[in-house]
Amino acid sequence: MKTWFSRMLVTSLLGSVLLAAPALAAPPTGSWVFDSTPDMPGFTRLIVAESKGVYTGTVTSHWYGDLPLKDVYIDGDRMTFHLSNGNIRVPEYPITLTGTGDHIHMSGRLWDAEFDLTAHMATPAEIKALDFPAFPLPPLRSVAATAPAPTPPMGWSSWNKFATDIDDKTVRQIADALVSSGLRDAGYIYVNIDDGWQGMRDKNGVLQPNAKFPDMKALGDYVHRRGLKLGIYTSPGPKSCAGYEGSYGHVEQDAKTYASWGIDYLKYDLCSGEAFYHTSQTVKAVYQEMGEALKATGRPILYSLCEYGRFDVGSWGRDVGGSLWRTTGDIEDTYATMTKIGFEKNGVPNHTGPGGWNDPDMLEVGNEGMSTDEYRTHITLWSMMAAPLMLGNDVRQMTPETVSLLTNKEVIAVDQDRFGAQGLPIKKDGDIEIWTKRLKDGSTAVALFNRGDAAADPAILWRDLGLAPKTIRNLWTRSDLKIDRGYAFAIPKHGAVLLRITQ
Ligand code: GLA
Repeated sequence: MKTWFSRMLVTSLLGSVLLAAPALAAPPTGSWVFDSTPDMPGFTRLIVAESKGVYTGTVTSHWYGDLPLKDVYIDGDRMTFHLSNGNIRVPEYPITLTGTGDHIHMSGRLWDAEFDLTAHMATPAEIKALDFPAFPLPPLRSVAATAPAPTPPMGWSSWNKFATDIDDKTVRQIADALVSSGLRDAGYIYVNIDDGWQGMRDKNGVLQPNAKFPDMKALGDYVHRRGLKLGIYTSPGPKSCAGYEGSYGHVEQDAKTYASWGIDYLKYDLCSGEAFYHTSQTVKAVYQEMGEALKATGRPILYSLCEYGRFDVGSWGRDVGGSLWRTTGDIEDTYATMTKIGFEKNGVPNHTGPGGWNDPDMLEVGNEGMSTDEYRTHITLWSMMAAPLMLGNDVRQMTPETVSLLTNKEVIAVDQDRFGAQGLPIKKDGDIEIWTKRLKDGSTAVALFNRGDAAADPAILWRDLGLAPKTIRNLWTRSDLKIDRGYAFAIPKHGAVLLRITQ
């Protein structure tokens, strides 16, 4: 049987070209308003036009704005097409339109949302009333960071452990636990509320937190009294990734609101904005827009860019006021995902350094999806990369192993080293990978990773690494090694060794 794809005679990358096969009945053209819509993606209207047998059109959505009909295929009075929300990782599913005239029927799937909708033909005024609002973006120019980050930012974020199941009480308890566990004193000072705190806008457009966060200002005060800083999250799109209210059309207003709550850190996550900010120019401009809005508040707010590493973000992240920028998609609490990100995906190393940091995503240490050895690899790798260290676990209940992995001051010092270099692999031999990183005092951090599924005991000759050690400190065992020509390390499956060597 022929597939839909093989039957498609003409397609266009920009969408909207159609074959001219003889049809038995005319396909639908016109403008319709949906009778009802699922919240995601919040379809409002559909417009289809035809000229010389070529069908074009848009479906408008609260989440994504005007989405052009792509890969249109006509079969009698039935039209099939694709919609893209700009996320290349999401498959495009066929969407079908049937019926003509007053009522039509649209069914299919966009990202996670399956729908089966009816729409009625509407007047030009009704269609116009559903225009997706457009807001001008600023011309590109440089914005200085208001809370510069000389070393990679450290703290805690709600997302990896709690997702949207986060509330005021939990955040307060986390703040207390950061203090009592010694994590704050080890350097983890940001308490970042990720997606899921947002409520509705009031009549003046001011965004309110949802019922789980009764008083953000009071929460900020609580966190500050403990010597910690408070972070928050939003999107330049109309919706956050989890479907909460985004900052589209309210950028300045939201920045002011955060400043009035005493916010110290903002993660700005592209989310639904990826449907219409999909060029380097517009993505830069939209991140700059928030950078300028934060600056205008007069409050130092550390600015974290989250657009998954698109358009070589490290090459312009500083220019929009950013101090860290995600280089990858989302981490998961698995060795496979953590190592894929850490070993292969963390941006252009030269872009990292004092003031701006490649961000391979938040930590999963303590979330139980990996072994202690694998978590040791996670921290070792992130420290070698000078990655931001944002805890992603429930710090109210940690095993002694987790506490010791997260509070090893000598390991943290490698991450926080003021020279700010992103360490790099210098040798790969089977499953063994060796990385080095130059440190400010002239010493070198050396990490040995065993990526294999069995324990290994590689023998290292310092000469082969271009090193002539005077002192060798094993940072995880906190012991000094005897100086010799080399050393044999026993490294467990998926484990790591971290050394600091002076010459
Ligand atoms: C995106 C980000 C994550 C997290 C979620 C929240 O997936 O990459 O880090 O913030 O959104 O919805």
